[in-house]
Amino acid sequence: MHLAQLLRERRSVHRFEPREVPIDLVMELMDTAVWVPNYHMTQPWRFIISYGEGKHRMAEVVRQLKESNEPDVSKKKDVGQKFYDKIMAIPMIITVIMKEDPNIIVREEDFASTSCIIHNFSLLAWEQGIGINWETYPWLLKETFRTAMGIQPGEKVIGNLHVGYPAMVPKAQPRVPAAERITIVSEA
Ligand SMILES: Cc1cc2nc3c(=O)[nH]c(=O)nc-3n(C[C@H](O)[C@H](O)[C@H](O)COP(=O)(O)O)c2cc1C
Repeated sequence: MHLAQLLRERRSVHRFEPREVPIDLVMELMDTAVWVPNYHMTQPWRFIISYGEGKHRMAEVVRQLKESNEPDVSKKKDVGQKFYDKIMAIPMIITVIMKEDPNIIVREEDFASTSCIIHNFSLLAWEQGIGINWETYPWLLKETFRTAMGIQPGEKVIGNLHVGYPAMVPKAQPRVPAAERITIVSEA
């Protein structure tokens, strides 16, 4: 697929087929995705890939968080189970983690580079018929999640990538034409 077509046709995917995504393929795509520009080559990223029964750890944290957030005692168990099942139904989850430099300039540059990896991966995956969605739900910031996943002090979770073969591809949401946001300066 041509790059321009890939860029325009990639969609964020929310519903997946139940089949597994091959881990070897994901490892290979990630190894290409990390070829991003990165100022001073700090390469501050790391990733946790959870799939199969490996998702249980994360699903259990979400169950506990959702149960404790539910004010109606009679609904707690059902709400917790619903979210547990939701996580377990996602074929693969990639948790994207970045080391947070104390210097804000470096930190922002690092965030930019790590975000580029996510988009690179998303495009490489799309080319293979695999969809992703970049999720930033609030529980990524919770200590219970961080502890369960072994996130260290000084590390920021940039998102969870839900990865799988699309069961449904959403319609494209139109973009403002770039020309409307471009100021051309061509004369002195
Ligand atoms: C930084 C970032 C965070 C996002 N967080 C979420 C999220 O928490 N939940 C979600 O459903 N989509 C999330 N998205 C996906 C966007 O909603 C999606 O890209 C947008 O609707 C455009 O759709 P498209 O990617 O299919 O073109 C996120 C995207 C980015 C770049």
